[in-house]
Amino acid sequence: MKCRACRSKAIIDIPRHNAAFCGTCFDAYLIEQVRKSIEEYQMFSQEDRVLLAVSGGKDSLALWDILERLGYRTIGYHLDLGIDEYSVESTEKTVRFARERNLTLHVEEIAREAGGSVVDISKVTRRPPCSACGVSKRHLFNRAAKTYGCTVLATGHNLDDEASRLLGNILHWQDGYLEKQNPSLPEDEGLIRKVKPLNRLTEKEMATYSFMKGIDYVIRECPMSFDAKQLFYKKVMNEIEKESPGTKQAFYFGFLQRRERFYPETGDKSPPPYICQVCEEPSYSEICSFCRLRLKVTAPPGDESLSRPRTTS
Ligand code: AMP
Ligand code: FES
Ligand code: ZN
Repeated sequence: MKCRACRSKAIIDIPRHNAAFCGTCFDAYLIEQVRKSIEEYQMFSQEDRVLLAVSGGKDSLALWDILERLGYRTIGYHLDLGIDEYSVESTEKTVRFARERNLTLHVEEIAREAGGSVVDISKVTRRPPCSACGVSKRHLFNRAAKTYGCTVLATGHNLDDEASRLLGNILHWQDGYLEKQNPSLPEDEGLIRKVKPLNRLTEKEMATYSFMKGIDYVIRECPMSFDAKQLFYKKVMNEIEKESPGTKQAFYFGFLQRRERFYPETGDKSPPPYICQVCEEPSYSEICSFCRLRLKVTAPPGDESLSRPRTTS
């Protein structure tokens, strides 16, 4: 297998582009893919301060490395989810990555911010762990971006994540989610702009990049992610891709090209009607989902009401 660009020995094949690359040319290819996404979807510029949500996994750590190489101004944010050894390792690897490269990182603990770990929250709210985790991440990422003066929030979602999510959303015609499935979501009523600069790159490409750069990341999956459906959709997409290379990319980017036709920007979206009584962020109810969750978790045993706002210091 020879590198498509320089004809030396290739280290990775990329069937969807009918290409293989040596280490040096793969590096150039990967950087170009990220640069292209940032430009095409107008994600951010050199003037922006980017809050990068870093989990300790390969995608977000590699993205941090890439954004630094491209000269963007980044601030890392890690949320310690309190999930036993998994979170201990995730936090350790993120902190070490930042320290070794002299990067700015802020770490918050969900137990401190929400009153309990993902497991505690899930038990009290009787919601699946991933759902409680998702509500907390959305709220705390957004809050952190504002606190640290950032104009945009970036995550490490890759092409596999986005294509499998799209498949799930289409199979169930989740219009609300499909409307928002965009690698660059503009700022909206108190919610900061959100971007996914790795949306052109696969898991395999990100793992290869991390390996080449000696990035030490958490390999195991979160033990709480029982989202078997999402894993199944990824498996299905990979089976299709094996038979017909390029389908995953064509499916996802085909949707993005048609998105506005399916879900036109009407401009008549009404803003959230409330300001959360507790955190004072725009909300769809008097108390936002995160504050309701926190109030439930911190209520004394036996107290089913949500009436007692507790302020964090
Ligand atoms: P996941 O949903 O676990 O696949 O994560 C998708 C992206 O969300 C990651 O690439 C990170 O950018 C971000 N993320 C997930 N978990 C955390 C965390 N605990 N702290 C900070 N960012 C996270
Ligand atoms: Fe949220 Fe595992 S990462 S529950
Ligand atoms: Zn609130």
